[in-house]
Amino acid sequence: TTKQWKIDTPEDRRLHEAADWLKDGKLVAFPTETVYGLGADARNDQAVKNIFKAKGRPADNPLIVHVGDVEAVSELVTEVPEHAKKLMETFWPGPLTIILPVGNQLASHVTAGLDTVGIRIPDHEVGRALLKAAKIPVAAPSANRSGRPSPTLAEHVITDLNGRIDGVVDGGITGVGVESTVIDCSMETPMILRPGGVTREQIEDVIGPVDVTGKLAASEQPRSPGMKYKHYAPDTAVWLVREAGNMAVIANQLKGQGKKVGYLVSLERAHEMNLEQPFILGSRENIAEITQQLYQRLREIDEHDYDVVLAESFSKEGIGEALMNRLERAASEIK
Ligand code: TXA
Ligand code: MG
Repeated sequence: TTKQWKIDTPEDRRLHEAADWLKDGKLVAFPTETVYGLGADARNDQAVKNIFKAKGRPADNPLIVHVGDVEAVSELVTEVPEHAKKLMETFWPGPLTIILPVGNQLASHVTAGLDTVGIRIPDHEVGRALLKAAKIPVAAPSANRSGRPSPTLAEHVITDLNGRIDGVVDGGITGVGVESTVIDCSMETPMILRPGGVTREQIEDVIGPVDVTGKLAASEQPRSPGMKYKHYAPDTAVWLVREAGNMAVIANQLKGQGKKVGYLVSLERAHEMNLEQPFILGSRENIAEITQQLYQRLREIDEHDYDVVLAESFSKEGIGEALMNRLERAASEIK
């Protein structure tokens, strides 16, 4: 079974035990401000391979390397362009993964054969204290089984990976609730590969206009291998409903076909439609809270036997862009 440390403060001495486990090549999950990560020594080939095995992750999907201090970055990459420096100064520690040309210190499986590596310093006092105690670069994908929603609680890590990993540092619920923004800074004009906790507006305020992956020609390979896999999806069919007014109509059609219909909605929508036992994300007025709750609600959906769950759409402004990106990827149909 998997060892669990319940740790509330960065001073807790048991973090050194968890750090020693990482240094010994063990797999230890830990909290970040976005979601829980499944950590291993990024220089240790076998430990990194074990991450892929524990998660059932395709070998061509590279891992993000987590460090405790910005000083650790220079050993991992061959070059830090000016725009990347500005992003680090502004957003680290924080939910921004910066992709740079990789050096020769890391296990080759970390980068899945690419010539770049994604790096970030997480903004979580327990998670960061662990990284500082370990003093090694820690490769860490989200600590879920591949294809499941990312874990926002240590319980989710245990549900997916108990017995498959060595330990988990339980630091309570994560704050942002969706993964970091991934930005490729290895090219002239940086490109956002995955929307996340830092918004495009925030980034452009610091370094000016950036590209976004969606604009790629259809013939091109996705620049972020992870984006080609179906992520974040519960087993239950989730239909994302664009127009608020259509939800009741669609529900009635489905019920007419004998289907059991659930709802993934804001508090306000639940009241407006007078819904019985909806999955409530939070108040529409607080998109950050809705984002924080999303993965937990997606996991709960599979504990019931709904045929279809109808999900509400939200504004794509600010963090809403990341929220809607994950909802669209969780959805089997968009109505
Ligand atoms: O918030 C997060 O980023 C969390 C926490 C634990 O830090 N981690 C996370 O890792 O979401 P993961 O492995 O679930 O997602 C990493 C994403 C994948 O889409 C992967 O393809 C992309 O980052 N990625 C990693 N290295 C890359 C690289 N060198 N070039 C392009 N994409 C890369
Ligand atoms: Mg993931």
